Amino acid sequence: MHIRSILLLGLNAFSVAWAQLADTSSYPIGPLTTSDAKWATKICDITDYGAVADGATDSGAAILAAFNACSSGGVVNIPLGTFALATWVTLSGGNAWAINLEGIIVRTGTAGGNMIYIEHSTDFEIYSSRGEGAVQGYGYQFHSEGTYVTNFAIHDIALVDSPAFHLTLDTCNQGEVYNMIIRGGNEGGLDGIDVWGFDIWVHDVEVTNKDECVTIKNPSNHILVENIYCNWSGGCGMGSLGTDTDISKIEYNNIYTVNSNQMFMFKSNGGNGTVTEVTLQNFIGHGNAYSLYINAYWSDQTVADGDGILYNSITFNNWKGTCANGAQRPPLYVLCSSTNPCTNIIIEDFAMWTESGSTEYYKCADAWGQGYCLEGGSQHTAYGTTTSTVTAAPSGYSAATMPGELTAGLGITTSIAIPTVPNTFFPGATPATPRVYGS
Ligand SMILES: *[C@@H]1O[C@H](CO)[C@@H](O)[C@H](O)[C@H]1NC(C)=O
Ligand SMILES: *[C@@H]1O[C@H](CO)[C@@H](O)[C@H](O)[C@H]1NC(C)=O
Repeated sequence: MHIRSILLLGLNAFSVAWAQLADTSSYPIGPLTTSDAKWATKICDITDYGAVADGATDSGAAILAAFNACSSGGVVNIPLGTFALATWVTLSGGNAWAINLEGIIVRTGTAGGNMIYIEHSTDFEIYSSRGEGAVQGYGYQFHSEGTYVTNFAIHDIALVDSPAFHLTLDTCNQGEVYNMIIRGGNEGGLDGIDVWGFDIWVHDVEVTNKDECVTIKNPSNHILVENIYCNWSGGCGMGSLGTDTDISKIEYNNIYTVNSNQMFMFKSNGGNGTVTEVTLQNFIGHGNAYSLYINAYWSDQTVADGDGILYNSITFNNWKGTCANGAQRPPLYVLCSSTNPCTNIIIEDFAMWTESGSTEYYKCADAWGQGYCLEGGSQHTAYGTTTSTVTAAPSGYSAATMPGELTAGLGITTSIAIPTVPNTFFPGATPATPRVYGS
């Protein structure tokens, strides 16, 4: 498996960073104690705890010992020189401490995970007082090895209450994931399944959380996702997509989504490359904020270099059910890049009605193709936004419900019970591969 990070702070580096950037005025940002005061309190030099600046001796244990000696106040000093790191270190529970990185840490270990993982810490700083310290991860060795997991299966298990993501398949191929249930807390950052790679079949999975259900990331080719029950989740999606997007031949089939943010969302903001040959068919939704949603200006993502990702040859077929409030958020919303409009988007047999109020609307912007508010023809130029209001329930919108739908998210302050893997994940469908022990 891959090395996740050179340095990881907290459980999920991204959500920590976003939460702090959201509002910097209401609380102090950064360490509370000056680095001078920490130097005056105590200095724990890793060479006093066994580290040798020879670029070969593992300094993992020495860094941990120096941290333990300074974790309640002081500076873990990594002096000039080259220190090898062969075993990863978790530095947990520090207060009013710092790492001064004068020297260079080079990765010599090959384990997956995070090289230096800092958790449950407050009043912390990592810096180089001469501005020359560095961590050299030698990631190229991994990239060139192609550290794939290939020819694998994960099935008939439950993944419950992950502190962060539940299942990530990073650059994997020839794999199958099936007959699984994932139950996470009701907040963002607790993704169900994130997958990128090729020749993968994900099927018969139920996800509860409040973030990604089963989501494709870049680059991916030839992935089939079917019989998925997003039972109070963020919903399925593709993204976030940035530069060099290269995704093709993706199919989602039989996707049941309740009380989620969306039934399916493409997420990008700028970027370049292509998403092509995608089929999203047989979707049922109830109580979701958005339903069919392409957003090429997704504001939760910083703008990536490029004229926009080209969304081309994307077919939506047989979408049924209801959305939470279709006058507030359109159940059919195709927002493409004005600098790189979508082409050949096909929407057929889309019948979704609103659960509150008596109207809803569809919205398309710079989106070419066939059906509903899409523009037909072959120009593929920017045209702005068109909307159409729907004042009566589309015929055939009514769709089956699943038993035992959630009416509230699962707690994030109490433990989540381990569920049994269910025997159906889409109304009327049975698992494509029978459960191992039957039922
Ligand atoms: C995307 O843009 C980058 C520069 O920002 C460029 O190097 C790359 O070749 C582009 N990729 C594609 C697929 O156009
Ligand atoms: C949906 O999730 C809730 C809460 O965990 C559970 O009670 C219910 O059984 C789930 N539905 C199905 C069909 O598994």
